[in-house]
Amino acid sequence: PTKPPPVQLWGEWKERYCSLANTFKPVLDRVHNFEVRDDDVYIVTSTKCGTTWAQEMTWLIMNDFDFDCAKSIDLTIRSPFIEFNGVVPNVPYDTIDAANRLKSPRLLKSHLPAMLLPKAIWTKKPKIIYVFRNPKDAAVSYYHHWRGMVGYKGTKEDFVQSYIDGHVNFNPFWPHVLDFWYMRNSSQIFFTSYERMKFNLPCVIQDICRFLNKTISDTQLDHMIDHLSFEKMKDNPACNHVKEFESMKAAAGREVEEFRFVRRGIVNSHKDELPKGVINKLDEWTYEYLQDLNLNMDDFT
Ligand code: A3P
Repeated sequence: PTKPPPVQLWGEWKERYCSLANTFKPVLDRVHNFEVRDDDVYIVTSTKCGTTWAQEMTWLIMNDFDFDCAKSIDLTIRSPFIEFNGVVPNVPYDTIDAANRLKSPRLLKSHLPAMLLPKAIWTKKPKIIYVFRNPKDAAVSYYHHWRGMVGYKGTKEDFVQSYIDGHVNFNPFWPHVLDFWYMRNSSQIFFTSYERMKFNLPCVIQDICRFLNKTISDTQLDHMIDHLSFEKMKDNPACNHVKEFESMKAAAGREVEEFRFVRRGIVNSHKDELPKGVINKLDEWTYEYLQDLNLNMDDFT
């Protein structure tokens, strides 16, 4: 536990911690004191829950469906990941400075839990889009991310155990989700899920338009569905994070295995990627979090 939470958060105070590498130390206070603007929009997620997908969608909605601009400027520049310098300290640019320089209205990304977000978020009340994903799929996706981006050499079993124990950056998972779940009816928050985006993308696009007081024509909606398809995003260099991966590889100064950020893009990837025993462990862990709250996984998707 660090400081008391700035808002009424879910659960007991003893649940409040967040695993972050030491490299976040110089970044966290700057993020916490970050200058929030009323018309900012924040995409907040636990890792690997469809952040990039929702970010590209929201950026287009906020920018009059300017597909040409979206294709020509990298998403990481159009929509900075605020605490990125904690994740990769040796990249030559400062994401907080970049966010400060950005013209309004800004779309900003964060994986931090509610208690560590810029504190002015809870007073200025800019809009927040929160994306949930089944943690069994998010854990699998995070495992591949760690192998590809960080050079992790451990087994899937070990990685999932660390995920369950909340020992990977930005975890524990469930408190992260539940804070936003309990705030979901506030006019500040739009809570959605990766599963909903997969099964009903047009509906999510229209809901986010409504949330941001934007309109969308049928032609724009068709264009969005095409642009945001897995196939198109996989090959879109402005949002498939390939350039970022290359610079991380260079910063790591060592060989890391080949990795596609826009990797598989399916629901239930855990089913053919995790051993049965590991799936059972994840199910028990979820049950322990949700049973007393009378919630189950379907409530979030
Ligand atoms: P997988 O590793 O399961 O394929 P984030 O952006 O939060 O890091 O999430 C990354 C996950 O979102 C990856 O999941 C990636 O493939 C998936 N993703 C990205 N774009 C997508 C799209 N257009 N359609 C479906 N899944 C997408």
